[in-house]
Amino acid sequence: MSATQYPPVTVPWARPPVGEDEADAAREAIAATRLSMGRSVREFEAALMDYTGRAHAIAVSNGTDALEVAMRLLGVGAGDEVLVSALSYIATVNCIVRTGARPVWCDVDPRTLNIDPAEVARRITPATRALVTADYCGFCIDYAPIERTLAEHGVPLLVDGAQSLGTFHGARSALALGRVSTTSFHSAKIITTGEGGMVFVDDDELAERARRYRGQGEVPARKYVHDTLGFNHRITDFQGAIGVVQARRLPDLCARRRAAADSYYRLLEQVEGVTLLDPLPGTTPAWFSLPILVDDRDRLAHELRMEGIETRSLYPIPTYRQAIPEYGHPPQPLPGAEETSARVLNLPLFAQITDDDIQRVVGGVRAHVGAGG
Ligand SMILES: Cc1ncc(COP(=O)(O)O)c(C=O)c1O
Repeated sequence: MSATQYPPVTVPWARPPVGEDEADAAREAIAATRLSMGRSVREFEAALMDYTGRAHAIAVSNGTDALEVAMRLLGVGAGDEVLVSALSYIATVNCIVRTGARPVWCDVDPRTLNIDPAEVARRITPATRALVTADYCGFCIDYAPIERTLAEHGVPLLVDGAQSLGTFHGARSALALGRVSTTSFHSAKIITTGEGGMVFVDDDELAERARRYRGQGEVPARKYVHDTLGFNHRITDFQGAIGVVQARRLPDLCARRRAAADSYYRLLEQVEGVTLLDPLPGTTPAWFSLPILVDDRDRLAHELRMEGIETRSLYPIPTYRQAIPEYGHPPQPLPGAEETSARVLNLPLFAQITDDDIQRVVGGVRAHVGAGG
């Protein structure tokens, strides 16, 4: 059977919001003598400390490395259990498995695709070493009941904010929550440095340890003297320079995403067969993408792609069913994750998306949803 011939993509799923200002900043950084971990990286860290309200920000090579560092900071290791959503990006879970700890899957709330707080309360045990949350597509998790459960058991929270830089719980950044939080600057993210990530903490000692893990475990101010098993998680200065410009633009980029999401919701609310997710009251999503729940999702994705519209499914199978040998035997299926992974479709959403693009996407959804094969 030959592969489907699709027309060129005219509305991509994501588009990095970078232009001349970022190019100029990168060029200047390249002209400077220090190409890695210089002044621009420190400025980028300071800008995001300011934005998130965190006392420390440690820039690293990508969001996966940020999670790796976070696991080290929380002391997670073999024999531990770590609670995590059953519907997650793979890196959110891999960081747990890589330490030798066991992921304990918590089902999602089908109204938000976020981890269900009742599941956290149900599955926490004396062996639980941490909870890792990731605000799904920037939809803020209901943290109040989760924080109560964690406080009762003395378990720390790690917020994987790869999709939620720009998510606010009231006036508080979602990345200000948890003992440690992380984010990603991959090219599809809210802001980007191509690749890149950051670790956020308030505690001075944790910040010092994070910097040491990033830089091969070297003792500060003592070149080639090491007291910790570290790694090279460093980031270049031209990425830092791009990050400084992106951080400056972050509030505007988020406002554009919110305006696009408002337009989508106004138009999609009237489309039969489409279920929209409910943002938690009192919170502002970062709108990493525009998720909808539909029957016959794969056919709708195909029809949209035939019209040049690119979509994704975050995520098409529950994470516990990934065929990674280290994940061990799958547990009982979890109904929320099973149902929503079969129905979720993520529509294009990025800061530069136009009203025309949105009309086209919604027109395609309206024409093909529930239309049968
Ligand atoms: C929720 C989540 N966690 C972690 C990551 C990993 O980030 P990176 O691709 O920068 O390693 C991503 C990125 O795609 C993500 O969406």
